[in-house]
Parts: sequence; structure tokens; C-alpha cells
Amino acid sequence: MDYYTPEISDNIFWVGSKDWNRRMFDALIPLPDGTSYNAYLVKGDRGTALIDSVNPGFEGELMEKLHSLIDVEALDFVIMNHAEPDHANAIKTVMDISSEAKLVTTQKGAKMAQVFYKVPEQRLVIVKNGDTLELGGKTLRFIEAPWLHWPETMFTYVQENRILFSCDYFGAHTAAGFYDDEVEDLISVAKRYFGEIMMPFKAKGAQALEKIKDMDIAVIAPSHGPIYRNPERILGMYHIWTAGKTQKKAILVYVSMWGATEAIVRSMAETLMSEGIQINYFNLLNSDIGDIARELVDSRAIVLGTPTVLGEMHPLAVYATHLVKILKPPLKYGVALSSYGWGGGAVRQLSEMLKPTKIEVVGAIEINGPASDEDFANIARLGKELASRIRCS
Ligand SMILES: Cc1cc2nc3c(=O)[nH]c(=O)nc-3n(C[C@H](O)[C@H](O)[C@H](O)COP(=O)(O)O)c2cc1C
Ligand SMILES: [Fe+2]
Ligand SMILES: [Fe+2]
Repeated sequence: MDYYTPEISDNIFWVGSKDWNRRMFDALIPLPDGTSYNAYLVKGDRGTALIDSVNPGFEGELMEKLHSLIDVEALDFVIMNHAEPDHANAIKTVMDISSEAKLVTTQKGAKMAQVFYKVPEQRLVIVKNGDTLELGGKTLRFIEAPWLHWPETMFTYVQENRILFSCDYFGAHTAAGFYDDEVEDLISVAKRYFGEIMMPFKAKGAQALEKIKDMDIAVIAPSHGPIYRNPERILGMYHIWTAGKTQKKAILVYVSMWGATEAIVRSMAETLMSEGIQINYFNLLNSDIGDIARELVDSRAIVLGTPTVLGEMHPLAVYATHLVKILKPPLKYGVALSSYGWGGGAVRQLSEMLKPTKIEVVGAIEINGPASDEDFANIARLGKELASRIRCS
């Protein structure tokens, strides 16, 4: 097969892979549009460098692409911006064939390359923030950008082409399009990815933005999703998302076996809408957690609904609440809604689970069986209270 290896800029080629059929990432994140593993080849007058590699299973494709562009045995450098296997696993294959190539990475990356990929110490080149590597007409500058989303991460900037290779940062899980302007709903896809992967590291992300703010960046080339030849838009969104700016929005996430919890969550939705609050409504039985992660990026409040099951929360609600805890969204307010048959217990557990978060629980309503008129009146009161808190902050 003749593979497509577009020259995205003078002597810089895309040698990545599109994984159209992948539907799950990290055994956790659904991928409705597949994803891509973007790797790039930089050809200088005196040397060549591969920036990142591809997911397990795509090594053959990568090698064929490289063979079509260079003498692979003579490759000089492999730049490892991030050690996660979707970008780094294929460096084993590359470095076996390119027997003189050195692996360029951060101090922490070097340790990981040894542990994960058995790269021998003498083949490692450790770089620090601001270090450069000269390939002849191509100067690679390294920017340490740790904890995006692993401790060892860095960016690589090619000065002559003004391209920032940011690996996972600014990424999007979609196999569609090569350039940002070719994917219609890209910001929504990128926001979902931010929620799933970068949101827990917002503060580190903001620091990375600060580090690159004065750089002349014509193109951002991440390792998932399209290349930004119009980088301003995604940079602007990342400034908002990493700052944790929330909107007048509430996200309602619930599960219900017999409809009692559903009825009070629904009633809460009606009140919030009538109070001018934008809502997103997720029944955990048929929701994609990536969509929930996306809405968590800028929602100001969450309504969690669960019945009591065997003295505790429904397991799906435990899962969703745990995700809310670990993704660390900028939510300010929370409400717990529940129905029980005899002893209850779900609301107590939910309050415990939310304690370590920064979410202020504005109220909790636990009803016995299906809601009475009085219960609905209480929900409306709590909904109005929540709406006013959302509006006032
Ligand atoms: C499998 C199962 C286990 C339950 N366990 C409890 C329980 O331990 N304590 C309790 O108070 N109610 C328990 N219930 C009753 C439900 O909490 C009650 O029917 C509630 O109204 C269901 O809300 P839903 O209609 O939103 O599913 C259980 C119900 C089911 C189906
Ligand atoms: Fe990663
Ligand atoms: Fe990745």
C-alpha cells in the first residue's frame, strides 16, 4: 500500500496512524469517532528526528512510512514527548532498526523509557527546559511541560517552522480530518478530551500555557486529532478551561430502577430550566461518560440522583460520583436526590463521597418511594435555591 505521508510544513512529514475503528481508550473512555496517533518526521540538512510514535499494532505502518521518506537505519533521534504506550511503545521497533538513533526525553521520561521500553542508558539523551537540538536548518527546542497528563511530559518546538509539537496537550480523540478547519465540531471533541484527560491537571496546564505564551506559534501539532493551522482558537479555549471558568450550567446525572428518582431529577430539571439555567441531562443507563466529562469542564453545579440499593448508592451512581471526584471539575455546587424503600442510605454515602471535593452540597432530598406533591414542592424550592446560587457566582 502507498501510505499518505503529507508534508505538513517544509521538510516535516506526518507519519502517524488513523485508528478509525477504535472505540475505547484506557479501558475507560469511549471513542465515538476513533482516534489518531500523530507522529512526525523532521528532516534537517544534517540529521533526522522522529517526534513520538504510534500505538501498539501500528508499528508496521509507521516503519513503511519512514522507509518511504528516509534511510531508517540512519535515523538520528527519536523524540519522546510522552512515555504512554499510544505514543511511545513503537519506539522499541524504531530503535531496533535505527540502531544508532538516540532517544531524546526529559529526566523522568528517561527513567520511564528504561522501565517501560528497556531503552539502554547509553542511548538516552536527557533534555531540560530550553535545550535545543540542531539538525541543520531545523532547530528543535524542548519545553518541559510536566504532568500533562503524566509526570514526564514535554513539548518540542521546531523554530524554523514555528511548529509546536504538544503530544497529548491540545489533543482530540477523533480520526477525522488532518487540519482543525476540516472538523466541524472540533472544539466540542477537544473539550470532551480535555475533560477526560487534562481537567485533573488544570493548574499544570495553565503553567504550560504561561510558558508558551510569548512563543511565535504558527501551528500546533498534537499527537491525537487534527493539526491546528489556526492555533488561536484552541489556545483561547484552553485558557478558559484551565482557568476553571464555569457557565450558568448545571449537569444532572442519575440512575433509577423504578422511576422514583428519575421523576425528582426530572422535576429538578424543569425548575432549573424555568430559572434560566442551562442544563445537561444524563441517565447513566444510556450515557457516554465522555459526554459527561465534556459538560463537567464548565458546569457550575451538579445534581446527582440515585436510589438506595442494598443500603447504599446504586453502583452506576458510585461509578459516576467517583469519576467526578477524580476528574476534578470546577463545579461549585451539588445537590443529592434519592428515593428509598425502607432504611435508605444512598444520600449518606453520596455526601461522604463528595466530602473530599470542593463541591458545596446545597441540599439533599431523600424521598420514600415515589414522590408526593409535598416532595415535588420541596424539589422546586431546592431547585430555586440552587439556581440562585448558580446565578450569583
Ligand atoms: C435491588 C434493590 C435493592 C434495594 N435495596 C434497598 C435498601 O437496601 N434500602 C432501601 O431503603 N431501599 C432499597 N430498595 C428500594 C428502592 O430504594 C426503592 O424502591 C426506590 O424507590 C427506588 O427508586 P427508583 O425508582 O429511582 O429506582 C431496593 C430496591 C431494589 C430493586
Ligand atoms: Fe497520554
Ligand atoms: Fe495519548
